Amino acid sequence: MAQTSRDNWEKEWQELKSSAISSLLSAQSLDDLEKARLDYLGRKGSLTLLLKGLKDLPMEDKRRLGPESNKLKTDFQATLEKRKTELESAKTAADIAQTAIDLSLPARPQPRGRIHPITSVMREMTGILSRLGFSYADGPNVETEHYNFEMLNIPADHPARDMQDTFYLDGFTPSLLMRTHTSPVQIRHMETHQPPIRIMAPGRVFRHEAVDASHSAVFHQIEGLYVDKDVSMADLKGTLDVFIKGLFGARTKSRLRASFFPFTEPSVEVDVQCLLCGGDGCPACKQGGWMEMLGAGIVNSKVLRAMNIDPQVYSGFAFGIGVERIAMLRLGIPDIRMFYENDVRFLEQFG
Ligand code: FA5
Repeated sequence: MAQTSRDNWEKEWQELKSSAISSLLSAQSLDDLEKARLDYLGRKGSLTLLLKGLKDLPMEDKRRLGPESNKLKTDFQATLEKRKTELESAKTAADIAQTAIDLSLPARPQPRGRIHPITSVMREMTGILSRLGFSYADGPNVETEHYNFEMLNIPADHPARDMQDTFYLDGFTPSLLMRTHTSPVQIRHMETHQPPIRIMAPGRVFRHEAVDASHSAVFHQIEGLYVDKDVSMADLKGTLDVFIKGLFGARTKSRLRASFFPFTEPSVEVDVQCLLCGGDGCPACKQGGWMEMLGAGIVNSKVLRAMNIDPQVYSGFAFGIGVERIAMLRLGIPDIRMFYENDVRFLEQFG
């Protein structure tokens, strides 16, 4: 190697020795540090090039400067790693400070969804019925007159079919309507099943009715149907007694009133003493002290015969319970409309 290039090498080497490490130490950011790394140890970095030129030096210089150069490279890399760790920690600390999250604060409570009171009371009711041996059956909300009326022995001129009470769907022949009760599920089930039958059918029903504290145009019922040999009024009374006491407690007062439904004979309605006023009279019970909960009766033999079930062999009882009415008494709600307003202050109290 010519003297001048050897002198140059030495000169550069001396400069590098003092500048390389200090360029790392003075880097104030990870970007600065990366730049310093590339300047010295990149493919065309000054230290890389200088080390490449080492092989052209005379042997005695190589011996002297080789280990020193390697040491510089090792020191450079060690300092680089150390500075990198320092700068990364500083960056993390700065990021945390900027987002200003105090990790020691307790978590904010997240609002939790709850079961709607109608759903939870309905589950309570079906729970009691299923312990009494009733299993689930289902039917559509949109029905035909055949299932909602005819097969239930409700003739065409019956007031229940009145346009005032029933929501008919426009433009369908034969007519389609929103079911006015859950009783059509009885028919749908008996069409495909023979006794013994013991079903419950919870669901929504629809009536064109004036809304007040105890009446809604959309509400829920649970239908019950039990058909077997020797089913009597005593079985109906016993079942309803267990049901009502299970929901409201052993000392709840209830009464059976003679009533009329075309699909049961005899028919009854069951009232429960209003638990909101203790029987004194309030808007929820229309000042009467009792609230009507359900309709029931012994399945009319005409209905059984139409379902090919022999009324000489089998008999049955059926009932249709108003879920909202039960929920009002069960939870102490004075007005049915509160269930549908979706006021979270109300809903938060349940579930
Ligand atoms: C019926 O719907 C019959 N299908 C019940 C039945 C089934 C009788 C099987 C015999 C055999 P009713 O229209 O009375 O009956 O309604 C039954 C219950 O639903 C009522 O006792 C009451 O608790 C509830 N209910 C009736 N109308 C409304 C209303 N507008 N809003 C809230 N609940 C109501």
